[in-house]
Amino acid sequence: MTRLSVNINKIALIRNARGGNLPDIFQISKDIESFGADGITVHPRPDERHIRYSDIPRLKKIVSTEFNIEGNPINKFMKLVLKNKPHQCTLVPDAPDALTSNTGWDTIKHRNYLIDIIGQLHDAGIRVSIFLNPEEEMVYAAKETGTDRIEFYTGPFAENYHKDRDEAISPYIKAAEVAKKISLGINAGHDLNLDNLKFFNEKIPFVDEVSIGHALVSDALYYGLHNTVQMYKNLLVKDNK
Ligand code: PXP
Repeated sequence: MTRLSVNINKIALIRNARGGNLPDIFQISKDIESFGADGITVHPRPDERHIRYSDIPRLKKIVSTEFNIEGNPINKFMKLVLKNKPHQCTLVPDAPDALTSNTGWDTIKHRNYLIDIIGQLHDAGIRVSIFLNPEEEMVYAAKETGTDRIEFYTGPFAENYHKDRDEAISPYIKAAEVAKKISLGINAGHDLNLDNLKFFNEKIPFVDEVSIGHALVSDALYYGLHNTVQMYKNLLVKDNK
């Protein structure tokens, strides 16, 4: 079954708006796990506008499912990850001032850089995933970096889902088949939501993990966090055919 990792950045954003500890992201992380999530994801950005670097050690202690830290592997980020040793680190080539991640790695151009960074993470016993556009040549080159998994950037899929969902999913199916053939694990994330998640997961049934934040936290305003986590989990259940 595809696992659900909940990205709690948006919850931290609300907390930061008032400078205090409301909502309490540590309690919420525990609750999200108890509601059925399989993991907690955070994306500390250089300006710390949502998750702060100082949140990480406590989260590492608290998270009892899988802890995933994602981000651009600048020095400060690498120090944080190597010190706190999450289960997984997802490398993302986002600019410091990016509103959100908006493209995957060029694994051909950045091959040697990624080999070095991934080697450091592996030496610390951390599983690595790298953010990728659904392009077959990037998947082949990703394998050469030594990464354990790739995470498909699903923003374009989500954007085109309502225009033509078969066309929107098509490059992902092709790239996922390549990844499967060369034994790369597959994660997916960005703009997945209650509308498009089931289709994505049915079309690519061997996805290991989806990481979802923005839509899930927004849905929780209507349905409550407990219901919302369960609703997303239910969409990941495969029909027995
Ligand atoms: N994966 C990566 C690498 C991301 O940067 C993000 C957003 O922080 C997500 C997944 C989750 O995207 P969303 O918040 O749109 O669900």
